[in-house]
Amino acid sequence: PPAETDYDIVVIGAGPGGYICAIRAAQLGFKVACVEKRATLGGTCLNVGCIPSKALLHSSENFHAAGHEFAVHGVDIASVKLNLAQMQKRKAGIVEANVKGVEYLFKKNGITWLKGEGKVQGTGRLTVAGKPVTAKHIVIASGSDSAALKGVDVDEKVIVTSTGALELSAVPKRLVVIGGGVIGLELGSVWHRLGSEVTVVEFLDRLVPGTDNEVEAAFRKILVKQGLQLKLGHKVTKAEKTGTGVVLTVEPSKGGTPETIEADVVLLAIGRTAASEGLGLDAAGIALDNRGRIEVDEHYATSVPGIYAIGDVIKGPMLAHKAEEEGVAVAELLAGQAGHVNYDAIPGVVYTWPELATVGFTEEQLKEKGVAYKVGKFPFMANGRARALGMTDGFVKVIADATTDRVLGVHILGPAAGELIAECTMAIEFGASSEDIGRVCHAHPTLSEAVKEAALGVNGMSLNI
Ligand code: FAD
Ligand code: NAI
Repeated sequence: PPAETDYDIVVIGAGPGGYICAIRAAQLGFKVACVEKRATLGGTCLNVGCIPSKALLHSSENFHAAGHEFAVHGVDIASVKLNLAQMQKRKAGIVEANVKGVEYLFKKNGITWLKGEGKVQGTGRLTVAGKPVTAKHIVIASGSDSAALKGVDVDEKVIVTSTGALELSAVPKRLVVIGGGVIGLELGSVWHRLGSEVTVVEFLDRLVPGTDNEVEAAFRKILVKQGLQLKLGHKVTKAEKTGTGVVLTVEPSKGGTPETIEADVVLLAIGRTAASEGLGLDAAGIALDNRGRIEVDEHYATSVPGIYAIGDVIKGPMLAHKAEEEGVAVAELLAGQAGHVNYDAIPGVVYTWPELATVGFTEEQLKEKGVAYKVGKFPFMANGRARALGMTDGFVKVIADATTDRVLGVHILGPAAGELIAECTMAIEFGASSEDIGRVCHAHPTLSEAVKEAALGVNGMSLNI
């Protein structure tokens, strides 16, 4: 870098990776700026990802419960009417409060927001909206964008990505989702609960690839029972807009006779790709891998000295909390500390109903690694609190090393699975055994007792089943 620089650290991108990195760096005493081209801070997650999707998931759950579940509780309401405009307004308010929150945090920590597009020029040098800026270290946290599909042209009105699917102003009669992954199932659930007929076209013979097979099978059964229509083992080859909707051509993934499906709205959700274009990476000599992600070493250093990368733009799960952990780690490493991320203990949650939460290894991964393991399972049907709540779908599955009893993976399908997974992540992080979890006192009656019981089950010691 030049002898005198404008900043110690400039972070490009103010998503969960970038903004958290900027805050930790400021806490550590660096002079920090964060470049963001969007009109608001917070990145994909706060603006068009995690936060608005969870707001709509919760609202649509309420709508569905009012119409279908209240009566059993003795709560009779004459008629339930959807006010989608209000639902969307509430969501927008939540997003606004969150992104303003990041702006407040920047001010509090003395971080400068450099507005505009950032382009890297080389060690210590970049431009923001065309103007030169210098820094001792540059951290790229440019995130990801929805992956495109040939023959399916997104207009964000009739053929939408998650961004358009979060903004619909009317409930589509027929929604076809391309991709049975996290986005497809979360946003498919939102619109299904609000009244859409939803069909999910998935390339593979299963949903959410990477999930433990047994858990995926149970999850799929519940979604089908709820009324989601699944077209597994199929791919979309064409989407043609008509005056009133879209005609999709689909064919078996392995080849075969094509057929057509009609939709009012199509959601394209076949994954996300690293946002590594338009940053001048090529000219700066920053190496990418074969999927367009920035290549980094174990300290997040790119191929160019002084330039680092974190979050969705590098390898690993495209999750907000993974990006955040890397943001903290790189800031600490730059301060000479021992920043580190344990990639074996990163939870993943699908916020459908019921939720699907997972941490650590699946049975299939352990078989492939040749690790001998034991399994303990406990159904929510046998948990008193779940019964009181009327939320008995699903189970907890704890996988532990056959010899040492160390917890290797936990998979939870059920109510509040996303919250329950936290103690399991902690167990894995601390190297706990299943017996450790089983011997911890869990409050009664809580859903967390199902975690304890599943852990006890690893050694055949469950008490309530
Ligand atoms: P991003 O959040 O994508 O932020 C990157 C920022 O960099 C953007 O604001 C972009 O404008 C800016 N930028 C890029 N290039 C430049 C440039 N050249 N100059 C200036 N600024 C630039 N993850 C979860 O963990 N939980 C969830 O529940 C969840 N839900 C999701 C729901 C949806 C619909 C989507 C799409 C994603 C969801 N994710 C979720 C994934 C999560 O949003 C991402 O993993 C996370 O945002 C990645 O953070 P990041 O900081 O790497 O990048
Ligand atoms: P995904 O990778 O979760 O799922 C994509 C699905 O599309 C896969 O099942 C894949 O087999 C399928 N697919 C690929 N090509 C296809 C084709 N041509 N036709 C039919 N199906 C095809 O990706 P998704 O759902 O788009 O989400 C992107 C990322 O965003 C995820 O990796 C996830 O990490 C993140 N995210 C996380 C959330 C969470 O943590 N709750 C919520 C939403 C997104």
